Amino acid sequence: MRRNLTLFLLASSVVLASAADVIPAQSYNWKNVKIGGGGGFVPGIVFNPSQKGLAYARTDIGGAYKLNADDSWTALLDFADNSRWDYWGTDALATDPVDPSRLYLAVGMYTNFWDPNNGTILISKDQGKTFTPSPLPFKVGGNMPGRGLGERLAVDPHSNNVLYFGARSGHGLWRSTNFGATWTQVTSLPSAGTYAPDPSDSSGINSDKIGITWVTFDSTSGESGKATPRIFVGVADVGRENIYVSNDAGATWNAIPGFNNSWIAHKGVLSPKENALYVSESDGAGPNDGSIGGVFKYDIPSGTVTNISPVSGSEGLTVDLQKPGTVMVAALNCWWPDGQIWRSTDSGKTWSPVWAWEAYPVLNRYYTYDDSLAPWIGPDYTITTLDKQLGWWMEALVIDPFDSNHWLYGTGETIYGGHDLLKWDSTHNVTLKSLADGIEEDAVQSLISPPSGAHLLSAVGFLHTDLTKAPQTNFNPAWSTNVDLDFAGNLPSTLVRVGNGNGQIAISTDGGVTWPGTIGGASNANSGKIAISANGTTILWSSGNSGPLVSTDSSSFTSLSSIPSGAVIASDKQNNSVFYAAVGSKFYLSTDGAQSFAAVGLLGSSAAPVKIIVNPGVTGDVWVSTDKGLFHSTNLGTTFVAISGITQAWAIALGAPATSNGPPAIFTAASLQGTGGGIGYFRSDNNGKTWVKINDASHGFGSISSNPLTADPRIYGRVYIGTNGR
Ligand SMILES: *[C@@H]1O[C@H](CO)[C@@H](O)[C@H](O)[C@H]1NC(C)=O
Ligand SMILES: *[C@@H]1O[C@H](CO)[C@@H](O)[C@H](O)[C@H]1NC(C)=O
Ligand SMILES: *[C@@H]1O[C@H](CO)[C@@H](O)[C@H](O)[C@H]1NC(C)=O
Ligand SMILES: *[C@@H]1O[C@H](CO)[C@@H](O)[C@H](O)[C@H]1NC(C)=O
Ligand SMILES: *[C@@H]1O[C@H](CO)[C@@H](O)[C@H](O)[C@H]1NC(C)=O
Repeated sequence: MRRNLTLFLLASSVVLASAADVIPAQSYNWKNVKIGGGGGFVPGIVFNPSQKGLAYARTDIGGAYKLNADDSWTALLDFADNSRWDYWGTDALATDPVDPSRLYLAVGMYTNFWDPNNGTILISKDQGKTFTPSPLPFKVGGNMPGRGLGERLAVDPHSNNVLYFGARSGHGLWRSTNFGATWTQVTSLPSAGTYAPDPSDSSGINSDKIGITWVTFDSTSGESGKATPRIFVGVADVGRENIYVSNDAGATWNAIPGFNNSWIAHKGVLSPKENALYVSESDGAGPNDGSIGGVFKYDIPSGTVTNISPVSGSEGLTVDLQKPGTVMVAALNCWWPDGQIWRSTDSGKTWSPVWAWEAYPVLNRYYTYDDSLAPWIGPDYTITTLDKQLGWWMEALVIDPFDSNHWLYGTGETIYGGHDLLKWDSTHNVTLKSLADGIEEDAVQSLISPPSGAHLLSAVGFLHTDLTKAPQTNFNPAWSTNVDLDFAGNLPSTLVRVGNGNGQIAISTDGGVTWPGTIGGASNANSGKIAISANGTTILWSSGNSGPLVSTDSSSFTSLSSIPSGAVIASDKQNNSVFYAAVGSKFYLSTDGAQSFAAVGLLGSSAAPVKIIVNPGVTGDVWVSTDKGLFHSTNLGTTFVAISGITQAWAIALGAPATSNGPPAIFTAASLQGTGGGIGYFRSDNNGKTWVKINDASHGFGSISSNPLTADPRIYGRVYIGTNGR
């Protein structure tokens, strides 16, 4: 993940029959708010070698995708709900070369304590339309270091009931002989990988062993119907040989000498017609480390290893199956002036780059850049200090096995590629296009839907003027992460946003088109929550690291002592003087424009309020979600009623009412008791007396505690959900 977005919007409405304590479901039409592609790291792209056009991509926090004929992608794991949020961490994928209808995904988010779940092999027999989970007895780390290595999951090309999976954390190599249904460890492999990027990392992220890095079958060995005898395996070991071969279908293994033992083998790619294995290596596991490395060709018949590196430090690796000797590699992390990709048509004897210096500072770029599908991604709009077109974290690089012109590669932000790759060899000028349409891989921390202007603004950094079209630009100034947004209730074109960097506050007075305003006095403060008074004069900032701060009339932020650090805050949307705050079980009210707060009502036995929202039409009509339920006050927070049946609530939002005189529709991400309830997303049109469930088995939205909601005040029934990865 690098930055943040994805949300969903709904449209239609059919309420099913309801009984007393039965929560009816409503069929909602969910769609991605379009961003045009990407937003985060795409560590793996795999083409099926047997079915033309069949390819999949995996992401580190947003699940897996299937490529469509029109270059767009379809998400496969949107069913993952709060109980299996870890499914969106996709550490490896394998598409069956014998039966292309079969797809396997190795899923799980973290191997440390952040993720309680063991990993899973998700098995599909219909190219990802449906999956059967096969639980693993260890964790899988789709968002862990080294996730661009691989693929560490592979299907035997001669006997597709046989699969191998290379585990992390020292669990070694595993084999299934029944199409992934059950797995046993291959204990004959001499190493499970001892390398960890930083053994002293107490979080358990960089101290975890990277493990088995890839499994590559030699399809030229053996015969159809019998397990392939020759198998290559890369292992994250440093200081000893770390590429192994078996010639007896995994019974025994031997290390192959001749590679660089100081480096980790990132990719092992077979070139069957050359009888060769190409290997790329780096001194880091990636994606963010790794500064030197190389590319090697292993000639299988003679057993010789040749260093064919174009320069040191290349990782993404692919071959053209139709053109033996055509090899491409991408730099893992070439940060300046841009990423780099090389192509060879003579098995790595000579290489040509995708750009070269004419003479500093002039670059010859041997490509035409096309970001029309996601204009915000381009160098004119992205974080300008990087000013990169080709990308970074470039590990997934593939040539379509049926089309030498079609290539794709994943970056830290998107997928690029094109359909005229052979021009590299003729005119040395290809089209490089952003091709991640349909891939949405951002973590959305806040959403607002003001009563006028664009219907949606997302903390990812987008003004969504048309939900069906990719945004043209990021908010300017662009920050790596916006964490909260608010609008002034009586002056809704006045907006404020806060970022996770020090002093990152910006103000817009044109509905989010431009953000020229800043406020001084808080240069060390960052993140947290932001609220702006109804007339836009006062900004209350419950910062993440410097406590509550307030600014009036653009004066510098000053500390506010009457509410504790970490308070959840909100501004009234009508009364210019009223602000609200909550900490623990205490609710606080300010009637003097956030100059001072007094504790008023109690939120039951809550320990952790999540969100305060305010009826835009009625001062003092407030809702608070907490770890102990959903609370409603109609008297400025003096007293609260706990909403019956809700035992815990996360995001909440108020939208347009069902009837013109009715209360606002309230949406909540909550745990609701009753048949048909559980943890999910619900709407009430009668102030929480009864609820309908609005998500379904195909729309789980992942981790519920990560997801912001906002509801449209102009369109009854429409709600936006931001997710952590989709
Ligand atoms: C994970 O697998 C291990 C080994 O089988 C088992 O001991 C552990 O209970 C499992 N953890 C979970 C959360 O299922
Ligand atoms: C092997 O890796 C080490 C450590 O990065 C490096 O110093 C050395 O030059 C490499 N050897 C070759 C032959 O590339
Ligand atoms: C490649 O083509 C593009 C578009 O015509 C052009 O802008 C670019 O200068 C060309 N690159 C080189 C090195 O000639
Ligand atoms: C906004 O409201 C506050 C509180 O009523 C008031 O003091 C201030 O003058 C108002 N600002 C403007 C620009 O009207
Ligand atoms: C705003 O709220 C305060 C505190 O309740 C109240 O004194 C004041 O009259 C309100 N202002 C308006 C315009 O309603």
